[in-house]
Amino acid sequence: MITTARIDELRAQVKAWHRQGDTVALVPTMGNLHRGHITLVEEARRRADHVVVSIFVNPMQFGQNEDLAAYPRTLAADSQALMEAGAELLFTPTPEIIYPKGLAQQTYVEVPGISDELCGHSRPGHFRGVATIVCKLFNLVQPDLALFGQKDYQQLLVIKTMVEDLSLPIEILGMETIREASGLAMSSRNGYLTAEERVTAATLKQTLDFMADALVQGQPLSQIGTQAERMLIGAGFKPDYLEVRNAHTLAPAVATDSELVILAAAYLGKARLIDNLLVKR
Ligand code: PAF
Repeated sequence: MITTARIDELRAQVKAWHRQGDTVALVPTMGNLHRGHITLVEEARRRADHVVVSIFVNPMQFGQNEDLAAYPRTLAADSQALMEAGAELLFTPTPEIIYPKGLAQQTYVEVPGISDELCGHSRPGHFRGVATIVCKLFNLVQPDLALFGQKDYQQLLVIKTMVEDLSLPIEILGMETIREASGLAMSSRNGYLTAEERVTAATLKQTLDFMADALVQGQPLSQIGTQAERMLIGAGFKPDYLEVRNAHTLAPAVATDSELVILAAAYLGKARLIDNLLVKR
């Protein structure tokens, strides 16, 4: 596996692959890789001739009081796992390489509407940071295909919308959330949980399951929301949001919607956990 922080090396390698007529998949990450990321790399290998993975803790998507400094950096272990999973190029740029003029002078990409609510409401500027770095990585790597986890459901929709709005010739694939045996969605931020909180954290998925069952049974949305919030608070979470939305637009669910997504964000100790569940009715 080639590991490089250099844009010229990255571009030369991808150009050589494309010149041969080969396809290239990109898996963008912020590192501290878990089984969810590795599943993306394995699927990328099945779908493309070559797999590029990026590891970049993107300062532009963190708010002022968020965990940019504390975000776990585990390059040696990540690199080993990626090699075993069959990635061929690991791109590890520094903030100076990605944002040489600094964040204040950086041109950005903003996807209106869908970026403003849920996580966008709680984390102003977050999706601008995500859309900008993903667009920039797409321009640097020029992949045929890019893969993302569905755990970050709103992020996936923001990226799909950006790709469509800017006519980027890249296929976006969202892969199912990978979970611990307890149901807890895998996340780099699970490392912030104590052993005790990790047990409690399983309640988040249980709450989503409860809501999905109640929705399918036709219970009123307001009643489901109240009960679900009570479950989370009872377990020790501080809920940020708990919403039932249209799975395609993220607009608040209405009676005629058949494809819904239940989205949750909640604080547990030092961690802000997010999860979601798709429901058809
Ligand atoms: O999901 C993530 O890890 C990040 O938001 C991404 C897509 C790599 C952009 O920094």
